[in-house]
Amino acid sequence: MQMQPISEAVPLRVDARTLVDAPHPALRRLRQFHSLVSLGQNQVLALDAKDVFALTTDPRTKQIEGHDFTRLNEIPDGYTSRLLADFFLFGNDEAHRAKRGLFARAFSFHNIRRRQDGIRAVADGIVADLPRGGPFDFVDAMAARLPAEMIADFFGLHRQDARYFAGLVYDVALAVGPTYPHDRHEAIEAAAQELFIYISDALTVRRSFPTNDLLSAIVSDWEKDQALTFDSLVHQVIGVVIGGTDTTRAGFAMLVALLLLHPEQWAAVTEDPALIPAAVNEALRYEPPVGSITRMVTTPMEIGGFALPAGTVLRVSLLSALRDPAAYARPDEFDIHRDDNPRLHPIFGNGPHRCIGEMLARIEMQEALAALVAAAPDIRLVEVPRMLGFGGIRQITAMTTEID
Ligand code: HEM
Repeated sequence: MQMQPISEAVPLRVDARTLVDAPHPALRRLRQFHSLVSLGQNQVLALDAKDVFALTTDPRTKQIEGHDFTRLNEIPDGYTSRLLADFFLFGNDEAHRAKRGLFARAFSFHNIRRRQDGIRAVADGIVADLPRGGPFDFVDAMAARLPAEMIADFFGLHRQDARYFAGLVYDVALAVGPTYPHDRHEAIEAAAQELFIYISDALTVRRSFPTNDLLSAIVSDWEKDQALTFDSLVHQVIGVVIGGTDTTRAGFAMLVALLLLHPEQWAAVTEDPALIPAAVNEALRYEPPVGSITRMVTTPMEIGGFALPAGTVLRVSLLSALRDPAAYARPDEFDIHRDDNPRLHPIFGNGPHRCIGEMLARIEMQEALAALVAAAPDIRLVEVPRMLGFGGIRQITAMTTEID
């Protein structure tokens, strides 16, 4: 194999703020000439599909540790920084495995499949509540309710609490983006504290009065060896609740918007619900709710001819890779009939940190779309939403719809 010479030059410096409002055209332009760009402060962004697919599991990198993440983003000490420093998403090796293991059974393929009818029932209920005869905010009325009520049912939290804890989650999820919004720190910190108290209370009650819900099972498993502190257990549950709430909200709203923007594809899924899984996959490719994942370089390496020393913060752009013409034909076209998805589709990451909730997210979105096309095939898009941001959990703007 011929080795490319490693350049002494430094990668192009890009201001992250230019990638927030309209990330796709900006990334498309950059990708034409660059495989890797610098975001300053020892951080780089890898853009090419071939690198992105491989880098998520490259042994010369590791997951960024929570304390490095909070230090890098200068998140002041408090509930938010303690949560991020401890949550298993930001951990490696045994610490990561032990914490993730608490949830492995609950998120198994078998367990999620078993819940499929219940998931459909929740989705049918939400669709039945949608207002008729006037414009309404689809994100609020359906896309936000869906994952929040699902996660409430899944863990055994009260369904009527879903709106409350989801509101807290949206604030705390802002801390998981590529740059910490310091101007929102007070709100984020207050939400992190409330979420901590809410989940801590829910677990404490189940320690004394276990039921047959998932939180009782988790707390009972934890009590057997108590390898983690109770606060750490609370952090892991909060982390999973965050992972499962904001991502699916944006992903589902965008799925419906994209189909409605392509009426022939909306008609196709309405007539043939067997197309729904492919529609979900394509919407997640076209507008992934998680824009990038972050790794730390541990052994000097090279990407796109640039030498990266150990300690470099490597952001791997799923957003760019999923629109790379080297991996997808007509990448900027939304097409639920495409058959060129690579075997490794990195929407949910890859390797030991691959999304634990992938199966739940896919089934949730599939069942909710099935419920919507069955009961409201005439839904119309009044205000088109946009997905903002290029990294971490992305944000969706308002989406107005109408049903006769
Ligand atoms: C469309 C929806 C979703 C998308 C696009 C998504 C995407 C991702 C990605 C890309 C990762 C890997 C991060 C990394 O490697 O650093 C991840 C991890 C994770 N996701 Fe999701 N996710 C979604 C839904 C969910 C749901 C429904 C849950 C739980 C209920 C969840 C919980 C998690 C957790 C706990 C992790 C950390 C896994 C680990 O570090 O071992 N996600 N997700």
